[in-house]
Amino acid sequence: MQEILEKLEQKRAAAHMGGGEKRIAAQHEKGKLSARERIELLLDDGSFEEWDMFVEHRSHDFGMGQQRIPGDGVVTGHGTINGQTVFVFSQDFTVFGGSLSETHAEKILKIMGQALKVGAPVIGINDSGGARIQEGVASLGGYAEIFQANVLASGVVPQISLIMGPCAGGAVYSPAMTDFIFMVKDSSYMFVTGPDVVKTVTHETVTQEELGGAVTHTTKSGVADLAFDNDVEAILALRRFMGFMPSSNRAAPLAQPSLDPHDRDEPSLDSLVPDNATKPYDMHELIEKIIDDGDFFELQPQFARNIIIGLARMGGQVVGVVANQPMILAGCLDIASSTKAARFVRFCDCYNIPIVTLVDVPGFLPGTAQEFGGIIKHGAKLLFAYAEATVPKLTVITRKAYGGAYDVMASKHLRGDVNYAWPTAEIAVMGAKGAVEIIFRGGSEAELAAQTAEYKDKFTNPFVAASRGYIDDVIMPHATRRRLIRGLEMLRGKVLANPWKKHDNIPL
Ligand code: HXC
Repeated sequence: MQEILEKLEQKRAAAHMGGGEKRIAAQHEKGKLSARERIELLLDDGSFEEWDMFVEHRSHDFGMGQQRIPGDGVVTGHGTINGQTVFVFSQDFTVFGGSLSETHAEKILKIMGQALKVGAPVIGINDSGGARIQEGVASLGGYAEIFQANVLASGVVPQISLIMGPCAGGAVYSPAMTDFIFMVKDSSYMFVTGPDVVKTVTHETVTQEELGGAVTHTTKSGVADLAFDNDVEAILALRRFMGFMPSSNRAAPLAQPSLDPHDRDEPSLDSLVPDNATKPYDMHELIEKIIDDGDFFELQPQFARNIIIGLARMGGQVVGVVANQPMILAGCLDIASSTKAARFVRFCDCYNIPIVTLVDVPGFLPGTAQEFGGIIKHGAKLLFAYAEATVPKLTVITRKAYGGAYDVMASKHLRGDVNYAWPTAEIAVMGAKGAVEIIFRGGSEAELAAQTAEYKDKFTNPFVAASRGYIDDVIMPHATRRRLIRGLEMLRGKVLANPWKKHDNIPL
């Protein structure tokens, strides 16, 4: 008996060594943790239950029959993060470059299937040379089955990808279909075709980092949500992030008691909006002052900075925050910001997370670049996302809410539940100057000035909208936190369903 037990320990030890000491050392030299070290750091101490440690590939071609490494290049299983169950796979670059074989794929599919059954998030740590070249089409089939599983899990359990090494070719499409992507600077990259192919086809010279590194994807493409300096930073941030994640679409969003008083007034907000309507202010200040303990987990902070998205708690309840940022492009909606916010609104709606929308938007960004780029279709994404969302929707207009953008930003007309405005709100078809220049074209300067003053007086305030019930109340800025938390509490029992359909046809 003792001998059998020892044999098990030996087998486990062999699996733990992955591709061997030399390759683990090479991984460390690149500043990367090993697949197992990543899991250890991510999960609560001692909570990891590994599955399929003894799985080996079934390939015989190209000498693979003599190279069998238990686990086959991916460590899978489940554990907890702050007590919440998660499923995890971590590709092991030390074993065949973390490449994906048929059995490697089966291991990932197994934990995804189980996560779906129990209703728990899936975290994928990607560090792989792509399809296992020796296996050919069997590997491609494995990828496709993972893609299929990603799609079926989408909207049922949160899926989060950590990119911590190579992720290239078709392999990028699995993370791309997950809800969030975190990357590590200088050691991870994602691209469909690498620098060599780019050089051949388009004659562009570009490095891996420039083409698909963490900075590129968090500033230029918007493919990834956050970029970190190293593995440890990324994993610790993910642990914090998971504190905001519901376990599935069947679960209530995570709530935790907050010591931050629900009725806390914030007098400084009474002077947040400058007297001059063209002067910007930082919307982050409002967000941080109304949420619990100023604890805001912002997503995509460096991409489409004219809109802010992220998760926070108010009165202990997790909420999604969407806010125009007057500091960037005056807070206009454009293609990138509409797409960024639309996906986030849909995420919140999938997982029963109430949406708090803070509005200061002068309209959609004009210009040929926007029109040729399809702002009509992309702007419609945000409109569509808000309109289809059935979660509690609470909106505060701080200053401008002009034109179509007023409608889009969770207005009453899109089934907004609680719609407040500050006394500084300007809710109108457009700004006074632009409006007067159109309706009094050709008027003298003095006439235009007088008409502008009259238009401003009549329309650029919250009371016209409030008189029609489009705004539930005009509130004091300092009371915003208290009023929103009361709204959230009132909305706990909200039930709203859309008409039955197979699925909608959001403009893509
Ligand atoms: C099998 C692989 C492998 C792969 C790497 N290795 N990629 N084995 N299949 N795809 C092995 C190497 O042979 C090597 O084994 C070890 O992993 C480490 O690789 P190195 O090349 O030494 O590492 P490095 O210099 O860091 O380069 C990493 C790399 C490079 C850039 C990822 O390995 C590479 O270019 N790999 C091939 C990438 C590729 O073309 N993949 C297929 C893409 S198509 P030893 O034994 O020496 O340690 C694809 C389609 C997916 O993925 C489609 C889905 C729809």
